Amino acid sequence: MLSATKLRSRLPQRSSQGSRTRITRRTHDTPDLYDRLPRFRTCGPALTEAMKTPAGLQLLIDDGVIDEVLRPLKSGKEATVYLVRSGHSTRCAKVYRNMAQRSFQKRTQYQEGRKVRGSRQARAMAKSTQFGRREQEASWKNAEVNALYQLTAAGVRVPRPYGYFDGVLIMELVADADGEPAPRLGEVELAPETARQYHCLLIQQVVRMLSLGLIHGDLSEFNVLVAPDGPVIIDLPQAVNAAGNNGAKAMLARDVNNLRTTLGRFAPELLDTEFAAEMWSLFEQGELLPDSLLTGIYAAEATAADPDALMLVIEDAREEAIQRQLRQGG
Ligand SMILES: Nc1ncnc2c1ncn2[C@@H]1O[C@H](COP(=O)(O)OP(=O)(O)O)[C@@H](O)[C@H]1O
Ligand SMILES: [Mg+2]
Repeated sequence: MLSATKLRSRLPQRSSQGSRTRITRRTHDTPDLYDRLPRFRTCGPALTEAMKTPAGLQLLIDDGVIDEVLRPLKSGKEATVYLVRSGHSTRCAKVYRNMAQRSFQKRTQYQEGRKVRGSRQARAMAKSTQFGRREQEASWKNAEVNALYQLTAAGVRVPRPYGYFDGVLIMELVADADGEPAPRLGEVELAPETARQYHCLLIQQVVRMLSLGLIHGDLSEFNVLVAPDGPVIIDLPQAVNAAGNNGAKAMLARDVNNLRTTLGRFAPELLDTEFAAEMWSLFEQGELLPDSLLTGIYAAEATAADPDALMLVIEDAREEAIQRQLRQGG
């Protein structure tokens, strides 16, 4: 994990050098700068005088990491996401909630196989001592930050991270064409052709992630945003280590099949595909590459009644996948 200082150095330079700006709210005598910011749909209340800046974010304002909290975007079980301003940019701040006792068991399943700093930490996490809880919690929050840095570097379309400070992740705002927060995949109606294209793009991202040894673990229509340049995968605190987790195959299948069900509503032929089994099989054999082209057909599924015919079907499907890739410009 990077230190706060190192992470801070990854932030773009702020326009107001030196002095620490302590703007906490939007006021009515709006300076020009605010007028140039994109306007946002009201999917959460504006941060009004009555609404206090959350303590975790106030610290970031005091430290000059962000300049202003614009408004809350969404509050969930695990975290609250806010729209914030940092210099001229609008970003998202994800403030993680402290872990509730009851969610420990579920998380233990995801954290299996995840690397922790040392054996003392690993033993403490396993025992659930108070120190262990703290370690487990830190590991949970850091998992999303680490995954975002790793995936961005590998060219997987996820929000670009801008740092992690005391339980708050600052990341790129995934926006729609008007600069407003992009809708979730489950909130849009798609033409069959677009659904097929999104499915293809998302499968490519899942393959890229798996080739790095990572499985999302909670990939669904709620955790994919639809940006003008295509779907963006978000929400990765539960990212699973594919090689070290006994449940990895099942989690991959659930992720991939969620995509199939969601997009299959618009393009029913997707419902017949078997991408999860195909990519897991390649991964297990050590043959999965970031740009592996898959067919959606899994040979072991079919009966071996006519192996020649089966090979022809697979070759056709592979050819089709290559053509599709070429049409999409690579
Ligand atoms: N980078 C982002 N850009 C735009 N909207 C985001 C971004 N990250 C999260 N959101 C919005 O906030 C919601 C909650 O974020 P998410 O990371 O899924 O946390 P959780 O589901 O654990 O509450 C998302 O469904 C999405 O609408
Ligand atoms: Mg989510």
